[in-house]
Amino acid sequence: MPGAGSGGAILTPGEGARAQRRAERLRRLRRTDAIRDMLAENRIHPSNLIAPIFVRGGEGIVEPVPAMPGISRYSVDAVAGYAGRLAETGVRSVILFGIPESKDEAGTGAYAPDGVVCRAIRELKGRLPALVVAADVCLCEYTSHGHCGVVEHGAVSNEKTLPLIARAAEEYAAAGADMVCPSSMMDGQVSAVRSALERSGHDDRIVMGYSAKYSSSFYGPFREAAGSAPSFGDRRGYQMNPANSREAMREVETDILEGADIVMVKPALSCLDVIAKARSRFDVPLAAYSVSGEYSMIKAASKMGWLDERAAAMEVALSIKRAGADLIVTYFAEQLASWLGGRP
Ligand code: PBG
Repeated sequence: MPGAGSGGAILTPGEGARAQRRAERLRRLRRTDAIRDMLAENRIHPSNLIAPIFVRGGEGIVEPVPAMPGISRYSVDAVAGYAGRLAETGVRSVILFGIPESKDEAGTGAYAPDGVVCRAIRELKGRLPALVVAADVCLCEYTSHGHCGVVEHGAVSNEKTLPLIARAAEEYAAAGADMVCPSSMMDGQVSAVRSALERSGHDDRIVMGYSAKYSSSFYGPFREAAGSAPSFGDRRGYQMNPANSREAMREVETDILEGADIVMVKPALSCLDVIAKARSRFDVPLAAYSVSGEYSMIKAASKMGWLDERAAAMEVALSIKRAGADLIVTYFAEQLASWLGGRP
């Protein structure tokens, strides 16, 4: 009602709009915690967080990873204790990465039925049946050269690698994994995994593809944790070039067509634009992997007293949500969930 309460003077539409603009006070919506919470467009919820777990051999071992304060490598018998603590904070899904006792050219440890990952899956599903157990499917932690596939004539062979990845996924499913996550960036990896699952009677298992996985310096601390840095060359021949985002959409689309139930963008913080673009184009569930370097940066800066750890970790997680990710794989899962402690 333009003019109402203004002493009877009738405002023209133009004057009305100007008066309204003068009265515009966006800060009214930011006055108190309750008002801010009521109007929050995005929230972090523990059930959308997936916690990575490093599994190793041995017994009774919880071995801290120096470059990732707060993160440890767990022997198979110690994994369920950690996952139980996560579940108490509200984090109900984990993704496993194996550190095998020995590595070889063909990454045999990745698909050995008695390898660390298969044993950890059985342990977790046995003790915590409701936990969503995902397994990373790649060869780099298991190969002596540290590449994500079979090396032939100095290069990673797509065709030789696919059957091994499919075999690993099948073993993880047979051990009871709810979700398998091919991360080698071989072309056709989702399709190879999907058909192996179907062939082996595990068609009820979820495939989460690391669809747009960039060649990134932010994987540094992980490679220390898993001892998986390539011994020669780098991963630019298969992981994506950080210069590209249209190509990421082709990767995501291909994975959906190949049968991925969930697609992923990785890393998260340096790829928020890619997450947002994928969100607006595709209607499948979207995950983002906030990688080791993103974690360690915040840890290191806050240790120096340069950042408030909790505020920074929360802000980063929210930004990933705001960009459009449904799920966040994050080393901060346990801390985020306990900080939230019931308050969104
Ligand atoms: C396996 C894999 C990697 C990460 C997840 N899966 C390592 C890599 O590509 O070098 C990195 C995760 C992280 O940095 O937290 N290919």
